[in-house]
Amino acid sequence: MSAVDLAIIGGTGVYRLARLQDVQRHLVETPYGPPSDAVVSGVLHGRRVLFLARHGENHVLAPHEINYRGNLWALHSLGARRVLAVNSVGGIGERMPPQALVVPDQLIDYTWGRAHTFAGGGNPVEHVDLSWPYDAGLRAALLDAGRTAGLDLVDGGTYGATQGPRLETRAEIRRLAADGCDLVGMTGMPEAALARELGMAYACVAVVANWAAGCGGDAEITMADVLGNMEQATARLPALIDALLASF
Ligand code: HPA
Repeated sequence: MSAVDLAIIGGTGVYRLARLQDVQRHLVETPYGPPSDAVVSGVLHGRRVLFLARHGENHVLAPHEINYRGNLWALHSLGARRVLAVNSVGGIGERMPPQALVVPDQLIDYTWGRAHTFAGGGNPVEHVDLSWPYDAGLRAALLDAGRTAGLDLVDGGTYGATQGPRLETRAEIRRLAADGCDLVGMTGMPEAALARELGMAYACVAVVANWAAGCGGDAEITMADVLGNMEQATARLPALIDALLASF
């Protein structure tokens, strides 16, 4: 396969890339076990793209069951050096209302018990620098692509990665807010750190599905609201991805 321009990891609500041409499915074996699903390769706007559904194409994997190491390893082994992660999140900060598309620049990891590193276990132990967890160049390209596509992306914000699959209590969200989190999601880590360990440029577009618990009023979080917001917000992603690919 020729060089890969971009790998996309699709989150909740993003299970395939429509309009992909020359599609092939790759069942990749990795030293860390199988990825969430077959990796799909194809051509979009003349660019070589890989796509992987993080939860599996039928959304069978809970956030703590995802083989993050297998996923990143598989994409890297197929030639990916740039990864765009799409993650659904709850909005905490007032700049992050439902349906917003956010390009975070920081994160805090509250997950536990996940296989979170390639280091150790016989591999060399390296302590990668994660001061800036998202790649500056890919973030800038994404924000430019948003402007080109006429989309109002939110630039920056801190993503708090929680264990899930349950949503948070209001007290937990108050704690996250006090810690400086603007967004809360369940899949941002260890993915970002693993990408860095493999030397891949990684950036996230976070899709705000709901106000996090206790934010934006007193309403309960309903699946109907979440799915409705996701549908509206993810409809804007193809234009963003097109503009991003055109910029490479
Ligand atoms: N919390 C954590 N993860 C999420 C949420 C939330 O409110 N919404 C979508 N993913």
